[in-house]
Amino acid sequence: MLHDGVAVLSLDRPPINNLSFELRTHLLQALDAANADPAVEAIVLHGNDKVFSGGVDINEFGSDLATRSPSLPELIRAVENSRKPVVAALGDLCLGGGLELALGCHYRVFSASARIGLPEVTLGLLPGAGGTQLLPRAIGLDAALNLILSGRQQAAADFRDTALVDELATEDLRAAAVDFARRLSADTVPWPRLRDRPLRVEVEDELYIHFVRDRLKGQKGQGPAPLAALEAVAAAGRLPVDEGLEEEGRLFAGLHAGPQSRALCHAFLAERAAGKIPGIDDSTPTIPVERVGVVGAGTMGTGIAIVFLNAGFEVALLESGEQALERGLAVVREHFAGLLAKKRLDQAQCDALLGKLSGSLDYAALGDVQLAVEAVFEDLEVKRQVLRRLDEALPDGAILASNTSTLDLNLLAEATSRPESVVGLHFFSPAQVMRLLEVVRGRRTADSVMATAMRLGKRLQKVSVASGVCDGFIGNRMLNEYLRVAGLLLDAGALPWQIDRALETWGMAMGPFRMCDMAGNDIGWAIRKRQRAADPGLRFSATADLLCEQGRFGQKTGKGWYRYEAGRRGGTPDPEVERLIDAYRTRAGLLPRTIGDREIVERCIYALVNEGARLLEEGIALRASDVDVVYLAGYGFPRLRGGPMHYAEEQGLANVVRRMREFACEEGGDARFWTPAPLLVRLAEHDLGFGRAGELQ
Ligand code: NAI
Repeated sequence: MLHDGVAVLSLDRPPINNLSFELRTHLLQALDAANADPAVEAIVLHGNDKVFSGGVDINEFGSDLATRSPSLPELIRAVENSRKPVVAALGDLCLGGGLELALGCHYRVFSASARIGLPEVTLGLLPGAGGTQLLPRAIGLDAALNLILSGRQQAAADFRDTALVDELATEDLRAAAVDFARRLSADTVPWPRLRDRPLRVEVEDELYIHFVRDRLKGQKGQGPAPLAALEAVAAAGRLPVDEGLEEEGRLFAGLHAGPQSRALCHAFLAERAAGKIPGIDDSTPTIPVERVGVVGAGTMGTGIAIVFLNAGFEVALLESGEQALERGLAVVREHFAGLLAKKRLDQAQCDALLGKLSGSLDYAALGDVQLAVEAVFEDLEVKRQVLRRLDEALPDGAILASNTSTLDLNLLAEATSRPESVVGLHFFSPAQVMRLLEVVRGRRTADSVMATAMRLGKRLQKVSVASGVCDGFIGNRMLNEYLRVAGLLLDAGALPWQIDRALETWGMAMGPFRMCDMAGNDIGWAIRKRQRAADPGLRFSATADLLCEQGRFGQKTGKGWYRYEAGRRGGTPDPEVERLIDAYRTRAGLLPRTIGDREIVERCIYALVNEGARLLEEGIALRASDVDVVYLAGYGFPRLRGGPMHYAEEQGLANVVRRMREFACEEGGDARFWTPAPLLVRLAEHDLGFGRAGELQ
């Protein structure tokens, strides 16, 4: 579109103008056309007021589209070399490749509220289209390094005195950019390019780079991206721009070819995909929710209340007794008082949040809520009773949610007159910290209720994953198998601290025994009793039960798999536990063998994979990447490995199946446990990944 000699080229690829092959091609064609058109004197690149561009299209990484000509660096080169000046008009969001494209422009007009960022390191990459070379030339080496290494977004206005920002537009961004372009005078030729700016590197900059390099080398679990990004920025200070760009390209290619960036990109896309449920989309009606009830003010209920308050909801907390209610309200108040003391809230904010909290012993207090979550004792009859009361008290159309972790949601729903309004909202402990929310769909849960719950999850800043009904839903059903195999490893010769260390070194946030000590070993004890009753053929190690019989419930009793001493952080290995395991092995006639860390990791992670595949096959999980999201967001699975199902694909599903069969065949092995899920076998036979399971007959 031409405005008085200024051609406005619009990026128009909703929702965030990702620089796909198609968009790059169109932009280059439009740029060439504008350069060839004698009526055009200047060019404005504009997205819209909300977003300039969110960067490259990660979905293209799996194909050659990401690098197909015109690649992003080629497009940026063309912009830099444009004979006519190119002005970027930058709306509220300008990230990654979008920012790199803007850095290639001759001028940049930002909206006053614009935010910039280079999030590539969070995807295991570095800005590979000039960002590491041009941003330091615009804002200085240390500021650029901080943005690139943190992946954080920052207000463009913070850089108003640098070469990054030519103008901040307070009103109509596009009009401001066109006006800016119109004012440019041909006397300015050659048009300024960031690549031509000298980058002065002071001694302090070099010291800073040394300091950051040492710090990064000492950090574990980050993958290679931060250090590579640092070296690319350091190269900007050392080399002429073209050589610096080459170095950046070389470092980028190394990261791009590595497993960590594949895992991180997978995790990123998996989280986005998890929100989508077939048959439910933006046109599915949702139920407006502003006021919620939480029944049961124990560990979970208070955490859930905090989550809702934080997201701006009014919360009515309901308990069965005065004391429990007062205790629960005090927990919530103390939580916010703690934030006030740490200055993470001011007094007014704290008052406003607590002003939205009320407590009651009477269901009548929930007469005007649009949703209630019950978090009472894990007992079918108690919960059915509570749901019945909620059914009577809540207005028509209101949602009845249960935080049950093991009970059959369908049985709970049947206790009410509105099973279509019943949904599981399975928060994880502590609810105000853990990102995961399993949204459990009962047999009769209505689409609108699922859509509302998924949207609610987003508002609560949770990562929501839909799950069907089964014992343990996605996460805990897999966890039970993982814990079962960890127990059987004790029988076979390993010790709890060896197993924990092997898995923690591999990347798990916490090994299984440390985790059980934290959650309380009595929880697992109850689950095992229930599972054994339902299926006497299931093999468990007896050691966990023996531990519980001694009252070693974990941190809360000062003793579990580890010993916990006052004043010492974490647990210490306990010779008593070693003796307990030894004695049990002797009694049971088990001959301990030496087990390597690698085998420990294989068995534990493949146990997750096998159960994950079964969940997928049964339709409990909608997609393999949902299983990954559950483990990444709720169980401390290392993001650099992308989740159990992604990890299995990286190993090759055929290799995973082969290994399971080896475990199944060994003498004294648990052939039933290690029988690979039929889906895994079929995918491995056809050399397909989980994403292509639909292609199987
Ligand atoms: P809790 O024992 O700490 O709290 C339960 C609360 O419910 C108590 O304050 C009790 O007074 C209250 N309550 C019991 N019956 C009631 C009734 N009829 N009406 C009103 N209040 C009643 O238990 P917790 O750990 O908070 O667990 C609650 C639910 O959350 C359970 O279903 C549990 O399976 C689930 N859950 C627990 C997790 C955990 O890690 N603790 C994690 C995820 C889910």
